[in-house]
Order: sequence, then structure tokens, then C-alpha cells
Amino acid sequence: MSGGQRRSVVLGTGSELPSKIITNHDLEKMVETSDEWITVRTGIKERRILEEGKGNADMAFHAATRALDDANLDATDLDAIIMGTVTADYPFPSSACVLEDMLGARGVFSFDVGAACSGFLNALSVADSFIRLGKIRNALVVGSDALSRLLNWQDRTTCILFGDGAGAVVLGASENGNGILSTKLRTDGSYAKTLYVPAGGSVKPANRKTVERNEHTITMNGKEVFKIAVRSMEDISREALEEAGVSIDEVSLVIPHQANRRIIVALAERLGISMDKVMVNLDKYGNTSAASIPVALDEAKRQGRIQKGNVVLLNAFGAGFAWGAAVIKF
Ligand code: ACO
Repeated sequence: MSGGQRRSVVLGTGSELPSKIITNHDLEKMVETSDEWITVRTGIKERRILEEGKGNADMAFHAATRALDDANLDATDLDAIIMGTVTADYPFPSSACVLEDMLGARGVFSFDVGAACSGFLNALSVADSFIRLGKIRNALVVGSDALSRLLNWQDRTTCILFGDGAGAVVLGASENGNGILSTKLRTDGSYAKTLYVPAGGSVKPANRKTVERNEHTITMNGKEVFKIAVRSMEDISREALEEAGVSIDEVSLVIPHQANRRIIVALAERLGISMDKVMVNLDKYGNTSAASIPVALDEAKRQGRIQKGNVVLLNAFGAGFAWGAAVIKF
């Protein structure tokens, strides 16, 4: 953790949540469920839903603008825009390119990273590598998803879990010893169909039948996801901490992917960290996929839960399966 080495530092953060709220009580009117079941099994009370006609990049734009303001930079100061998302505005081009135009960034390169709930950590790790290599100086890293667009609102096992949102981080280069100390990423593609959207890709392009069979919506074995998520996030967090040369006792705040409160509590127990050092906001937003970590990071910063010198551990798990962790010194 000594100075001298070029690292990526967080210069600013921002987030955007759509204004439309669907509460557990609203869901009681749509499927056979109850506020009590959802609260006890997941910790979620309500989620935000992106307005019809709007796209992923609309949310990302507001999050990115706030992150740039926080960093005191203009879009023209950026060298790269990397967005974690699985709900891009269009099959192509990338939402990062759409966002680039909205922001008025010029002379950058922009692309999306598809790693579902781990999308932000993958995007962060890629941007961090470019910065550490000296290829770029400033990067905008975004996690933005509108999973409401992929939900079957008649399937109570999935529609209660997810919500929409976007979070953004502006990274810059520094040699002061602070910044991203480590990132670790992993996947296991043998679980590809444990959590996926069967149609809409090249295997089953959209047609009348795929729509009638609801194959454009999320299909999931929740129990399997739960079991493997906790263990994987624990292991990769330990690896990231070891690479950073930081012990769990030195971590001021853990910001886990916000999928399920029970997953987060189990993870905290296994890591040996008390829940007052763990950021939880899934009660308000549900699982916002790639957005969940940067939204929680931005909220934690605004709540004063991250101070200069603090070490923060981020960790995520999701479809792929893809998981990861990062250690950042602020
Ligand atoms: N309301 C009421 N009852 C329900 C609901 C609901 N919304 N959904 C399922 N049930 C019923 C089931 O049908 C089942 O009934 P049965 O016993 O009569 O068969 C009963 O509740 C128990 O269902 P389980 O699936 O065993 O419930 P479980 O405790 O596993 O909780 C849950 C389900 C919340 C999905 C949990 O497995 C989970 O959170 N898994 C992780 C999934 C996840 O987070 N995925 C997101 C992407 S990956 C990630 O981000 C980590």
C-alpha cells in the first residue's frame, strides 16, 4: 500500500433511480405473494421501474452527469466510457456509445461489458487496467440495468426480486498510494442456464412463439444461485483482500451486490464482519443488477460512511455464473 505506483482513484460517484415505485403491496395485487413473504425471504420492500419509452442510457446519463460533477470534470476530460449492463438500449450499438453522445464526450472509446450482476466490477476492473497501464487517464465506469424489461410479471419467483437503476464512478490516475488496490474476477459457465433469458439472442431470435411462451424473461433456479453466491463471494473477497495486502479488520465498509438480505448476512458472518460495516439498501431498490454496487457506493459516500483513508470492499455475484471483488482505499 505504499506510494509511487500508478493506480486508479475514485474521483466522483453518482446514481439515478427512476421515480416510479412498485411496493410489495402493489405486487400482492399482481401475483400470489405477500409483503411478509418478500420481506422475510429477501429484505426487499420496494423497487424502482424505468418509465416506458426510456432506455438504459437515460438512467446512465443522469448517474454519469452527477459523477462528473462530483469529480469536478467535464465529459470532454474522459478517455473511456465502460458500462456494465445486460439491458442495453439496443442489441447494438452499445449503451456506452449512446451515453457517450448524450454526454458530449469526444475522442473517447466506449463499450459495454456483459456480466449481469457482476457487470460493474468487470467494467471497473477493465478501466483500472487501462489506467494502471498508462493507456488512459480518466474513465467513466457505469453500472446500469433495467431488468424490469426482462421480467415476467406473472412469475412470483422472479418478479419480486428486481428493479431498475444506474450508478457511475469517475476514475482518474494517481501515485499517492490510494485507489483501487486489487480486483478479482471469476466465472463458471457451466451454470449458464441456472439464471438466464432463453430467447432474444442468436439461439432463439424473437418470434411470435418465443413471445407467447414468455421466453424473453428471466428464468432462475433461486436456491442454486443462493447456495453458490455466498460461498463464491466469500472466497473471492478473501483473494482480493490478500492481493491488496489488507485484512478484513482494516475494512471500514463492505458494499456487496444487493440481491438478497439473507445472502448479505450470511456473507458477513462468513467474512467475520459485523453488519454495521455492511452497506444495505436493497429494501428500497431490490436487485438492480450491474447498478447495485455503484448506487450503494454513491449512497454510502453521500451518507458520510466513506471517509478519506477508508478501505472499502466491493463484491458481487450473478448470472454466468460471474462473480468478483475489489478493494479500494479512498
Ligand atoms: N411469494 C410467495 N411464495 C413464493 C414466492 C413469492 N414471491 N416465490 C416462491 N414462493 C413459494 C414457492 O413456490 C415455495 O412454495 P412451496 O414450498 O409450496 O413449493 C416456497 O415459497 C419456498 O420457495 P423457495 O424457492 O424454496 O424459497 P427460498 O427461500 O429459496 O427463497 C428466493 C426464494 C428469494 C428466490 C431465494 O432462493 C433467493 O434469493 N435466491 C437468490 C436468487 C437471486 O438473488 N437471484 C438474483 C440474481 S443472482 C444475484 O444477484 C445473486
